[in-house]
Amino acid sequence: MIIFDGDKKVFKLDTNNTSYVMGVTDEGYLGNIYYGKKIDSTDILYALRIDDLPFTPSKFLGGKIDFMDRFPSEYPFSGTGDFRNTCISIKDSTGQEGLELLYKSHNIYTEKKKLAGMPCARGEKTTSLDIVMSDEAVGAEVVLTYTVYEECDVITRSVVIRNISEKEFYITKALSACLNLETDVSDILSLHGSWARERHIQRSKINYGSYVIESLRGEPGHQDHPFIALLSENCNKDYGDIYAMNLVYSGNFIAAVQKDQFGKIRTSIGINPDRFSWKLESGEQFQIPEVIIQYSHNGIGGMTRNFHDFFRNYLLPSKWVEADRPVLINNWEATYFDFDDNKLVQIAQEASKLGIEMLVMDDGWFGHRNADDSSLGDWYVNEEKIKGGLKNLVDRVNSLGMKFGIWFEPEMISPDSELYRKHPDWALSLSDREPGLCRTQYMLDFSRHEVVDYVYGKLYEILSSANIEYVKWDMNRPIAEAASESLPADRQGEVLHRHVLALYEMQERLVNDFPNILLENCSGGGARFDAGMLYYSPQIWCSDNADPIERLMIQEGTHLIYPLSTTGSHVADCPNHINGRVTPFDTRADVALTGTFGYELDVTKISQEERDQIPAQIAKYKKYRKLVQTGDYYRIASFLENGRYDSYMIVSKDKRHAVLIYVQVVTDSNVLGKKLKLCGLDSEKKYIVDGKKYSGNVLMNVGYIIKIAKGDFKSVVIEIESAE
Ligand code: GLA
Repeated sequence: MIIFDGDKKVFKLDTNNTSYVMGVTDEGYLGNIYYGKKIDSTDILYALRIDDLPFTPSKFLGGKIDFMDRFPSEYPFSGTGDFRNTCISIKDSTGQEGLELLYKSHNIYTEKKKLAGMPCARGEKTTSLDIVMSDEAVGAEVVLTYTVYEECDVITRSVVIRNISEKEFYITKALSACLNLETDVSDILSLHGSWARERHIQRSKINYGSYVIESLRGEPGHQDHPFIALLSENCNKDYGDIYAMNLVYSGNFIAAVQKDQFGKIRTSIGINPDRFSWKLESGEQFQIPEVIIQYSHNGIGGMTRNFHDFFRNYLLPSKWVEADRPVLINNWEATYFDFDDNKLVQIAQEASKLGIEMLVMDDGWFGHRNADDSSLGDWYVNEEKIKGGLKNLVDRVNSLGMKFGIWFEPEMISPDSELYRKHPDWALSLSDREPGLCRTQYMLDFSRHEVVDYVYGKLYEILSSANIEYVKWDMNRPIAEAASESLPADRQGEVLHRHVLALYEMQERLVNDFPNILLENCSGGGARFDAGMLYYSPQIWCSDNADPIERLMIQEGTHLIYPLSTTGSHVADCPNHINGRVTPFDTRADVALTGTFGYELDVTKISQEERDQIPAQIAKYKKYRKLVQTGDYYRIASFLENGRYDSYMIVSKDKRHAVLIYVQVVTDSNVLGKKLKLCGLDSEKKYIVDGKKYSGNVLMNVGYIIKIAKGDFKSVVIEIESAE
């Protein structure tokens, strides 16, 4: 519900358990007054402390700058006295940079508008608010949009900047949102990593000064993640205050926390202003990406469950949310580039006997690509490898009762490719400089429409040529030289954002033209695992590292925000190709169970004993698949924190079914069974666990004793069923 109290000029945005309140001062400044547990009054303008603020302009203009530097601005602007982290900056046609946004009007409505050219959450049964702010001197109008998702305790925000002046101006900073909080938060939760170890959780202290999480790689990257949460000191997985922001954007981002001289905290998120500027002509508008914001007083787990419900109900492509995704086998770790049609069919033959439902042909099927140094851009089938052509191969795989999926890396061009020889200017590069290689490839210039159209046309041809039911869309290098020959000097700062917009446009075309194709995004594993990409693809390859022990940490961080069904998780070859770890076959399957399941190995080469385990692993996955897709996720213990074991549960919404997963990374000598306090059950209900009856409150308070064979890297999956 959204309330506007006209007398007090206060906006109150209520979800089931939270209130978000803003107020307009006499001068027209919009302040962020309160965010937290639900309150029942709009009579809280006093909390802006206008009367106590020195130098309130209407009272004493002589100190306006001091006012600007203290006011908890809802959408802070640069260059007129707010010296903290701001959200927006505009350079006008004279080169001056200073903005003062004042309240102009507002509108409350029920049909959420889609964001132009960008992913955003759907808005069925929601209420939205537009607040129009303007700076008449610059000729800029800014529309702040809020949508309230009551049952998930989520608010989304986005912003449109309009040029209402006669001349062009340049947007040099365009963040999505900020929150002004008092000192009842003390900690930061963020996600960090590298290739093959993405999204490890980090908890740190908020100190004076600024703390920044960011990407300048043209994608969110393996390293940092477009998410930030601020926590109260006592906040743990079960209780405490947490404020979170997750950006719906797949390019450069910045998330910052700043503790100012008065001990107040401002946290902001949006497109990274570094390497960004956007020329806006008179009459044009610029869409700023959406951000998902929430407050929970039920701790980190409360935040997670709100995010999961929100993503499932409003952001993931609805068609796929509860659809059964095929159990797939991908040939990458099985063959790398060394395969032909017969090898793929052999894998498919063996896999189909074991219950695997789809073969994915990974990198190496096109141009003359036999290593990672050629042919990107040459999207035609290499008939020396795939003899008889693609349709023939797909038909052979289909005749085994299996679906067929294919890999692409559409944003790239290899120097050794026909495409590059024909169009060297299609690669992003700085004038008079050799572009830098990464994985022996260049980035295509997606700010040029002819490039995007050409590549999409090639994809379209391939996808129309055979019965292809799945696409893995990869992106295997960051964007370094963001310069385009096709843009004038004052638009070079647009290249990186234009790339993201073109990517979105292509994926939109793909899912519209081929609605039955299941799209899985990927970027060297999980470098572009973000809310923006999840709008198009219901699953993303979580990491190139499928070692189950490393995956415990990667998946814990990923599932902090994103539903379990979004994470592509496969049973990989052993010893693990990346870290060499040797783990039991079943542990690899048990850890992959809580994602979208598949295999990443040569099923014709593993031992008969392992092959024999596959049908039971698939049956186990299918047994829990609906629960994993629709249930509530509870963390019991974190290997990242304790260094010894990991455990989590998924509980159905009606609390009748649950599954407990436990992975013993380091066996405890001389310990008789590990006691785990279960979570999320109904304390009034009786449950059957391992043939014995317990009450929910006993399982959650006294705990359940896990019995597991001695040895490192062992796992168990335990079914919990209501006895009634
Ligand atoms: C990336 C992906 C892998 C595989 C290779 C192919 O690294 O993450 O799964 O597709 O590219 O080159």
